[in-house]
Amino acid sequence: RQQRKKKERRASERGSEREGSSERRKICACNEIEGDLHVDCEKKGFTSLQHFTAPTSQFYHLFLHGNSLTRLFPNEFANFYNAVSLHMENNGLHEIVPGAFLGLQLVKRLHINNNKIKSFRKQTFLGLDDLEYLQADFNLLRDIDPGAFRDLNKLEVLILNDNLISTLPPNVFQYVPITHLDLRGNRLKTLPYEEVLEQIPGIAEILLEDNPWDCTCDLLSLKEWLENIPKNALIGRVICEAPTRLQGKDLNETTEQELCKKNRVDSSLAAPPAEEETSGI
Ligand SMILES: *[C@@H]1O[C@H](CO)[C@@H](O)[C@H](O)[C@H]1NC(C)=O
Repeated sequence: RQQRKKKERRASERGSEREGSSERRKICACNEIEGDLHVDCEKKGFTSLQHFTAPTSQFYHLFLHGNSLTRLFPNEFANFYNAVSLHMENNGLHEIVPGAFLGLQLVKRLHINNNKIKSFRKQTFLGLDDLEYLQADFNLLRDIDPGAFRDLNKLEVLILNDNLISTLPPNVFQYVPITHLDLRGNRLKTLPYEEVLEQIPGIAEILLEDNPWDCTCDLLSLKEWLENIPKNALIGRVICEAPTRLQGKDLNETTEQELCKKNRVDSSLAAPPAEEETSGI
């Protein structure tokens, strides 16, 4: 019986797509909220947007969460050029073909959190010239191309918590005026100063909790950087997961000697020659 229901629903979708634009307009509700137009298309079972249109004479926030927009193809949003924000959370979205966001020149906020996105490619965000706020938490992000954000010259807020990121590529923030960066709950062991931290001098808020920080000499530059950003900019703690002797310790309570101790420990471990010498005598 469920299958039949599914079929009926699909049929009605196809039907409504074929009908005139006046019919189509009824599919989503338009609501005015605090002076802003909201186009509410959430949970409509949409799998594509290419046959839909939207208001052409008014700006609006476009709500598309809870649909089945699993793949976005080039010019997917061509008819939505008056959108100023785009809400696409919970769509099972796993593929954004470069060019998908072309035409969305007014969008300042993009929400693609709670999907299944695995990578940001070089041109994933092509066309989002005005983007200030990108929310992509709770995805499966592992690979971020060094040029992924290159054209987002207004991007200030980047929310990437609860992904699978183990490294940020060099120069990924070049020309990106980040002020708020959320990297909690990833797989980061280190964050270099050169070509990464040095490129976000305007940081006002950074969240780094729940990463397997490797408290070695490599992390010294993060520690020093954190000491030099505005007070209270770091939200939450940076807890060492390795090496074992520093496990559970807050990075801000480690010393340079502790972080850079590794070599000395190694040389003392690799010092049975001392014993040989003794026995030799
Ligand atoms: C380290 O950070 C924690 C949490 O923010 C704070 O409670 C603690 O006082 C800091 N320790 C030092 C030595 O700054």
